[in-house]
Amino acid sequence: MAKLRMGVVGLGFMGSLHARLWHELPNTELVAVADLDPATGEPLARKYGCAFHADPADLFARADIDAVSIVTPDRHHVAPATAAAAAGKHILLEKPMAHTGAAAAEIAAAVEQHGVRLMVAHVLRFDPRYVQLRAAADPETFGEAIHLRAKRNSVRGLAQRLGANSSVLYYLGVHDVDMLQWVARSPITRVYAQKVQKLSNGNEDALYAVLNFASGAIGTLDYSWAWPDGLPNGYWVHLEAVGTKSAAFLEVRDQGLHLVGETGTVGADTHLWPEINGKIIGDLRDELLHFAEAVQSGEPFVQDWRDAQDAIRVLDALFASVDQGAPVDVRR
Ligand SMILES: NC(=O)c1ccc[n+]([C@@H]2O[C@H](COP(=O)([O-])OP(=O)(O)OC[C@H]3O[C@@H](n4cnc5c(N)ncnc54)[C@H](O)[C@@H]3O)[C@@H](O)[C@H]2O)c1
Repeated sequence: MAKLRMGVVGLGFMGSLHARLWHELPNTELVAVADLDPATGEPLARKYGCAFHADPADLFARADIDAVSIVTPDRHHVAPATAAAAAGKHILLEKPMAHTGAAAAEIAAAVEQHGVRLMVAHVLRFDPRYVQLRAAADPETFGEAIHLRAKRNSVRGLAQRLGANSSVLYYLGVHDVDMLQWVARSPITRVYAQKVQKLSNGNEDALYAVLNFASGAIGTLDYSWAWPDGLPNGYWVHLEAVGTKSAAFLEVRDQGLHLVGETGTVGADTHLWPEINGKIIGDLRDELLHFAEAVQSGEPFVQDWRDAQDAIRVLDALFASVDQGAPVDVRR
């Protein structure tokens, strides 16, 4: 079978990983990359022997590209995604699908109008721990969900780097909104959220919320990127689901590997996108490989983009609840 010919738009932290993986995977070829900043894009294109475009429109116009990764900042997904769809390219779009429900609807309309395939890159759907937790919440053995809780905390250095371009809900929170609805097998219908903003990073320091699910379960969200950068490993993540028959939780504060130096200890990534024997392995590789295989075979993606779109409706309600200081229904 011919290799899937890939382009990548947006070559920052995450886009450079996508580019490297399309170059490394056996069934794909990295044909071209695009970034508004040539100082970022040109060296990367040289490294992988592919073309560079400062204007994404030039990448979308190429006939020798089948599909693209769109890895631009959170508030800038709509223009490249709709342009890629109009150019007939299949799309792997980094999460969040878009920064508002209205923006996600624009992308959905473009994908449907032009008949291209879209997968939103919710990497936890490829994380063995989350996938097994979801399996453990099968109603037959789990019963009915009583309560669910998600925590995703990170460090203020990340919030500073992203500034007003992002939100704790876009960069961190959407992962768990998607995961909670998937694990609960029930949509979040109502949210009551509050935020704190003291650090002058241009985004919320922390956001907590109480949730109602259509099934009658309740839940909470605990999001922060206010921790000092000395938080061990830079993150603290928790997900739990308690049902009428059983329960499951995961608690992630390290990956089980600690590298100890004279000035301190750092944790190493063992499952997201570690480099092992010169190649990237782990959840992200599995996600990109799945995208390529499903496009080549015509099989459905493990996650329908409509689930990703639904998570954005919940984010809209969380923002509205913060603004109104009151519980808000999720509008569908
Ligand atoms: N799945 C995950 O675990 C995960 C992790 C990190 C980031 N992300 C997502 O990836 C996306 C990018 O995040 P990041 O941390 O890599 O951002 P980043 O700021 O490091 O990089 C963004 C890059 O996009 C370029 N860019 C900006 N606007 C552009 C445009 N219109 N066209 C072309 N290039 C443009 C910038 O020059 C920059 O190089 C975000 O949506 C983020 O939420 C996902």
